[in-house]
Amino acid sequence: MNFGVQRFCLFLSIAIFLSSSVLCLQANSVNFHVNTGKVKNLRKPKKTTCNLYQGMWVYDPVTFPLYDSATCPFIRKEYDCLKYGRPDHFYLHYKWKPTGCDLPRFNGRDFLARFRGKKIMYVGDSVSVNHFESLLCLLHSVVPDLRVTSKSTNTTLTVTFRDYEVSIVMFLTHYLVDIEEEKIGRVLKLDSLKSVDVWKQADVLIFNTWLWWYRGGSKQPWDYVQEGDTIVKDMDRMAAFRKGLTKWAKWVDSDVDTTKTRVLFQGISPSHYKFVPLHNSPLNHYTYALLLGKDWNETGVTNCGKETKPLSGSLYPGGSPLALNVVDDVLSSIKKPIHLLNITTLSQLRKDAHPSSYNGFKAMDCTHWCIAGVPDTWNELLYAALILD
Ligand SMILES: *[C@@H]1O[C@H](CO)[C@@H](O)[C@H](O)[C@H]1NC(C)=O
Ligand SMILES: *[C@@H]1O[C@H](CO)[C@@H](O)[C@H](O)[C@H]1NC(C)=O
Ligand SMILES: *[C@@H]1O[C@H](CO)[C@@H](O)[C@H](O)[C@H]1NC(C)=O
Repeated sequence: MNFGVQRFCLFLSIAIFLSSSVLCLQANSVNFHVNTGKVKNLRKPKKTTCNLYQGMWVYDPVTFPLYDSATCPFIRKEYDCLKYGRPDHFYLHYKWKPTGCDLPRFNGRDFLARFRGKKIMYVGDSVSVNHFESLLCLLHSVVPDLRVTSKSTNTTLTVTFRDYEVSIVMFLTHYLVDIEEEKIGRVLKLDSLKSVDVWKQADVLIFNTWLWWYRGGSKQPWDYVQEGDTIVKDMDRMAAFRKGLTKWAKWVDSDVDTTKTRVLFQGISPSHYKFVPLHNSPLNHYTYALLLGKDWNETGVTNCGKETKPLSGSLYPGGSPLALNVVDDVLSSIKKPIHLLNITTLSQLRKDAHPSSYNGFKAMDCTHWCIAGVPDTWNELLYAALILD
């Protein structure tokens, strides 16, 4: 079968899947066989006890990027910055350097061998899709002779590396908790988690949610919020986030067998806009400020459009997003062993690594991340957490 056609099919299934609310109940399947370059011989990472999330970005054009994004067939057009004409390439060449040690180099062959027959599932919003596609590219780049199949349902996209029977799954959900259509309209249910049986089938679960909690106006995908028997039109979004995440945390404690399933939660992925009041209602104004109110202290700049270099050093002038307090509180209430992929600060330093206008839609995007780019480091940290914990 011709690779170009298969590649198109895969793009199509990703596109259909990502246009979310589309309900495509049929599963589709594509097979392809690609030969890409040489296998790199990678060393086994050593055990380390240092804090991998504390450090700085260093320019390393020899090692980074970890792959050529032009050879990766899994990148959606929102994240394919080089394809859509990004002229500056510095952002591709930065390596995350923890203060007390080196981050183990991502070893795709080891990853596939270690997780032979296993299922790795990302559960979350489009930031999880960023993370998911980066892992697919990383694995694709180190396995030269690749058989891959993909399958989609109404909520999942599964890509399986056949030679190892390793499945990488994206489960798309904006809030983790459910939204249901009812007579009164769409209801965000802060204490409903209906998909847990699908999640529990995974061997590794990487959760993420935040991006949608502050959204209002036409971008808000629900009409009411429900907690218990109480239904309200709206509520403080940070409080809602805390309630939804707490429901998830209680589920982890009561229902996940963490001896079989590893659970990770990705910290808040930061945006790089300067605060601009977009909505007039005090609630939306307030909640929007929570996300975007801190910036990198550069006079006259309102978004990431002209950024080509990371911030130097280890500290972000704007401090931590407030949502991270909620994540820290809720995660520390969980008794079972789970891991916080604490990517917030290191990602805040990368004001240069968003697509900005170099995406398939030419819209300014300072929320998601170019692939190749920062999500590759998230996956190196995921790999480190899985092999070192
Ligand atoms: C996450 O990492 C940052 C930067 O190293 C650190 O300041 C913060 O305390 C960490 N948070 C947790 C919960 O480990
Ligand atoms: C997705 O499909 C499953 C069965 O395949 C069904 O139970 C579920 O309700 C569907 N979800 C949505 C949001 O349509
Ligand atoms: C922001 O920049 C101003 C002027 O350059 C400086 O005085 C201030 O200390 C900076 N704030 C932070 C938090 O870095």
